Amino acid sequence: MTTDALFKHIELLQGNQPWGRFLDAGTGEASLRWVTGLDTQNWTAITADPQRARRMENKFSDRVREGDRVLSGNWSDPLLLQGEVFDVVLADYLIGSMDRFSPYFQYSFLRRLRPHIGTRLYLVGLEPYHGASGDAGGRLVMEIANLRDACILHAGHRCHREYPAEWVIGQLESSGFEVEEEKRFPIIYGTKFINEQLDVCRRKLEFIENQELVSGLRSRIDKLREKALAFYDVHRGIRFGYDYVISARPVQ
Ligand SMILES: C[S@@+](CC[C@H](N)C(=O)[O-])C[C@H]1O[C@@H](n2cnc3c(N)ncnc32)[C@H](O)[C@@H]1O
Repeated sequence: MTTDALFKHIELLQGNQPWGRFLDAGTGEASLRWVTGLDTQNWTAITADPQRARRMENKFSDRVREGDRVLSGNWSDPLLLQGEVFDVVLADYLIGSMDRFSPYFQYSFLRRLRPHIGTRLYLVGLEPYHGASGDAGGRLVMEIANLRDACILHAGHRCHREYPAEWVIGQLESSGFEVEEEKRFPIIYGTKFINEQLDVCRRKLEFIENQELVSGLRSRIDKLREKALAFYDVHRGIRFGYDYVISARPVQ
């Protein structure tokens, strides 16, 4: 299932209700590309990473209308977007990345976001990996993810931490939302995933001081890339895990 399929599903849920003022609460190139193609009144895109904000402003400069904006800010800041309400809010793989930017804030984030939501929240997430022991493809995906996280930690940086759909639903229900729908989308990983994740590993090596460790990790990265690409060649995709889309609306 591609990211496009998740966005198509959200379009289906929205039907012919207007998108109005739109908030991309954790923006990135994929979500903003989709948002800029919607018939919104205007959009606001938030990222906690100022460099990402600048990159996106440049990349999307020809799609920014008056009233549209990319803002760098953190949801843990109580003043971010103070008093502003958006008709539709998207939280696309946002909670999973929060551990990097505002650790432990995941637990209060939905309550923090609620006053900014006029009619609907669409929340996209990756179900945490588990239970791959009997399945070679699943084991391979987990090997890649574990090596990525090991390299990130050795570099002294923080990893993503994904949350189960069930946890998100519980949080929504106790934060003043009614959950309207949850849908799961099985993932088929391809070469893009393999290369992107192992490229993250390569980029982290420059932050690691111990050169013995660096050379061990480099060889492990190369071998795993070879093994995973060979597996892909035979199976033409690695089926493992799922993404979820949850639709919810604020209630009194
Ligand atoms: C994994 S990326 C989002 C993926 C994105 N929607 C896409 O299309 O690629 C997560 C985004 O959420 C932002 N984010 C994470 N924690 C945040 C926080 N506490 N406050 C504001 N933005 C945050 C990150 O800076 C990043 O822009």
